Amino acid sequence: MNTIWSDNVQGIQTLYLSRKLRFDDVFFCQYRDSFNIDKDAELKILEIGCGPGALAEAMHRWYPNAQITAIDRDSNFISFGRHNVAGVEFIEGDAEHLPFADNTFDVTISNTVQEHIEPNAFLSEQYRVLKPGGICLCLSTRKELSCIAPCLKITKEEEEFWKSVTSEKILEEYGVCQYPMSEAELPASMEQHCFKDVTTNYAIINLTPDKPEYSVTMGERIIKSMRQTNLESIAIASAHSTEYKRAIDAVKSKFDERLRLYGEGIKQWDTSVLIIMIIRGKKR
Ligand SMILES: C[S@@+](CC[C@H](N)C(=O)[O-])C[C@H]1O[C@@H](n2cnc3c(N)ncnc32)[C@H](O)[C@@H]1O
Repeated sequence: MNTIWSDNVQGIQTLYLSRKLRFDDVFFCQYRDSFNIDKDAELKILEIGCGPGALAEAMHRWYPNAQITAIDRDSNFISFGRHNVAGVEFIEGDAEHLPFADNTFDVTISNTVQEHIEPNAFLSEQYRVLKPGGICLCLSTRKELSCIAPCLKITKEEEEFWKSVTSEKILEEYGVCQYPMSEAELPASMEQHCFKDVTTNYAIINLTPDKPEYSVTMGERIIKSMRQTNLESIAIASAHSTEYKRAIDAVKSKFDERLRLYGEGIKQWDTSVLIIMIIRGKKR
């Protein structure tokens, strides 16, 4: 039983809601060509470090004939996935010692996981469990351009809360982002681990609630995902501080205001644009 990530780093709803947006069907056209996998084939796909399972869920929608397995070492995420995500087999386990035989999968995929796992283990384990000719897809967010609405500026209550958080070492302590690699190092590392035909592509995910092409549901989902991320960050950090209730109330009320403005059609044009790198390599 390991709940390190969900208890200390990112909560279930933070990951699930933000990734449901990132892997929404409106963005599939940006992933489809980079993935370059047969939509109709009966593939065996493994997602590594799946969190609560939003990418695995999207893969099930996008590749309906595939058999999807998802693995993470955090038991809260696995339990959430088992109860809330249909069509995916969730397994608790370690990406550095994958509990699968050699040559099992046609595709392995991960999103924002590589930087947290020792690179040799991360890539060589995927190489081992892929079938010859199998595809390794490694996704990671490289940059976020963001601009917040005036009503969402950090409040005095939040500022006081974050000052009161005594443990500043949460990320370091839990091995977060111990192995960052640049846009050049990651594909080179895949080649060093024997993957061939390595390619890199970038998807641009525009999360602007006021974008006219987005439905009201989509606009509200973007705002609510930000709200949940703010609330869960405070809840997680509150283990290191006692001063969190005022900050929680402040976040709730500023997001209520953002939703009110959105509901009344008063545009703020706040945005978050993600540049997602997609690296694809093939097992020899
Ligand atoms: C940034 S989160 C990304 C989660 C998910 N891919 C997503 O995009 O929502 C990193 C994930 O990697 C998982 N993780 C870290 N090290 C791991 C390991 N050695 N084996 C399995 N999962 C691991 C964490 O538990 C966490 O769920």
